[in-house]
Amino acid sequence: MKRIIVASRPIVGQKPGTSGLRKKVVEFQQPHYLENFVQSVFTAVGPCSGQTLVIGGDGRYYNREAIQIIIRMAVANGFSRLLVGQGGILSTPAVSCVIRKYQAFGGIVLSASHNPGGPSEDFGIKYNSANGGPAPENVTNEIYQQSLKITEYLTVEAEPLDLDTLGSLLLGDTEIEIIDPVVDYANLMESIFDFPAMSSLLTGGKFRMCFDAMHAVTGPYAIEILENRLGAPKGTVINSIPLIDFGGGHPDPNQVHAHELVSRLYGDDAVDFGAASDGDGDRNMVLGKEFYINPCDSLAILAANATLIPGYSGGIAGIARSMPTSRAADRVADGLGLKCYETPTGWKFFGNLLDAGKITLCGEESFGTGSDHVREKDGLWAVLFWLNLIAVKQQPVAMIVREHWQLYGRDYFTRHDYEGVNSENANKLIVRLRNTLYDLVGQEFAGLRVESADDFAYQDPVDHSTSTTQGIRIYLSNGGRIVFRLSGTGTEGATLRVYFDCYQDDPDLVDQDPQHALTNLINAADLIADITRSTGRSAPDVIT
Ligand code: G1P
Ligand code: ZN
Repeated sequence: MKRIIVASRPIVGQKPGTSGLRKKVVEFQQPHYLENFVQSVFTAVGPCSGQTLVIGGDGRYYNREAIQIIIRMAVANGFSRLLVGQGGILSTPAVSCVIRKYQAFGGIVLSASHNPGGPSEDFGIKYNSANGGPAPENVTNEIYQQSLKITEYLTVEAEPLDLDTLGSLLLGDTEIEIIDPVVDYANLMESIFDFPAMSSLLTGGKFRMCFDAMHAVTGPYAIEILENRLGAPKGTVINSIPLIDFGGGHPDPNQVHAHELVSRLYGDDAVDFGAASDGDGDRNMVLGKEFYINPCDSLAILAANATLIPGYSGGIAGIARSMPTSRAADRVADGLGLKCYETPTGWKFFGNLLDAGKITLCGEESFGTGSDHVREKDGLWAVLFWLNLIAVKQQPVAMIVREHWQLYGRDYFTRHDYEGVNSENANKLIVRLRNTLYDLVGQEFAGLRVESADDFAYQDPVDHSTSTTQGIRIYLSNGGRIVFRLSGTGTEGATLRVYFDCYQDDPDLVDQDPQHALTNLINAADLIADITRSTGRSAPDVIT
């Protein structure tokens, strides 16, 4: 094995976004592209000699090739031990679990999450730190700085490794261990939830569920946990084989893309509980019979019922939600006498709060829910939490949610996405709003008066770092809120996200369609931001 130094030079655009570097596969396949980024990571977080690195991905197109490149570079950069998921597979929460369990220095996750996969689709890479969570902004900034001044990278000459056979081998001085991607994660789940109670529910003959792995990474995890360990009938997990192109689908667990699952929740033969996860296994959607649970409500309900779960029976320390997420969790925190933190979009902002023990549960409206058991959002964990809750309460999902609304009131929520719009126009829309924020206050739109408006800025309560320009918030006289921000994960043009939420505590009015309940806010948003003209769209592309 020969260690080599390859001359290189900076490639523009390697700035990590909301969740690492995401680009089209062809961009990653350019000479030196992946190598430059990986070397920038190692230089930024190094020295790496003597350290342990975890490597795995969601199995999408280019996963295996990228892993071979990263292994060779990690060896050349002096890591003494690499833990690589068998077949190159590790879900994002499993990477976090493995980093923490084996006290690794960090990990590399290969995924573009819920974005489609395939030769002309998306790929992504991000670095997770020793706490198991996405690298914080100071680290991602340093990675970017390194990418701007890179002159060479280190690698070794070696044959591609067999990623499919479990066991250890040596490459130079580095021990490379091909690990079972599922077992550590499944054991962690078993330590948190009441598996005997959940197993009785799933095998009792009265309750049926369906889990849609969407041909993405959670298939093997869901089969092991739901079918093997909990005894759910074979076939409970559908689309369970990870495919490099997710079977041509869009592995985003919402009602549009998980249509096969949704269809199983309706009709005479409907199952009682349905769930899906995304490409890399960190998102979740949970459904009851003919009933959709908004992720904002899900976070609030899990928090309100946490003590029913063995892993949280001692109570929770606090809750955090991303800013655009509805304020449903805040009401639960209030009721429990706990603090609810409002953070910018992106899981990395929860890390410090979790590490400092300030929160136990956290979540985002974008189908992300998690706890202090790892430092990523965790799709299957959320599904198991709901299953455990159903097993304890012995109630249908819809009843659990409706009882919550009766008790706390309901925070209606919806998000409207305008995808692939002209970047310049989208940026102008945000800048225009930012510059006119103070003039908006007092004006009326669609019968609602603007009470206050700001551009969200966050100071981390632990390390006191600040993050500015995190989204425009507009508060209206009916207690409603509109948030405007641009996506940081898209790979084509810009995606404008507009979020709406409004509180309703009249028990007779908590069962409406959110699009109806939020009509005034939706109309006001168009008048405030001139969305139709700026995007050239008369309606959003995706509504969640
Ligand atoms: C989106 C979601 C955000 C989530 C991220 C990674 O980011 O909105 O909540 O953390 O994906 O899954 P965005 O594209 O909005 O920047
Ligand atoms: Zn994801």
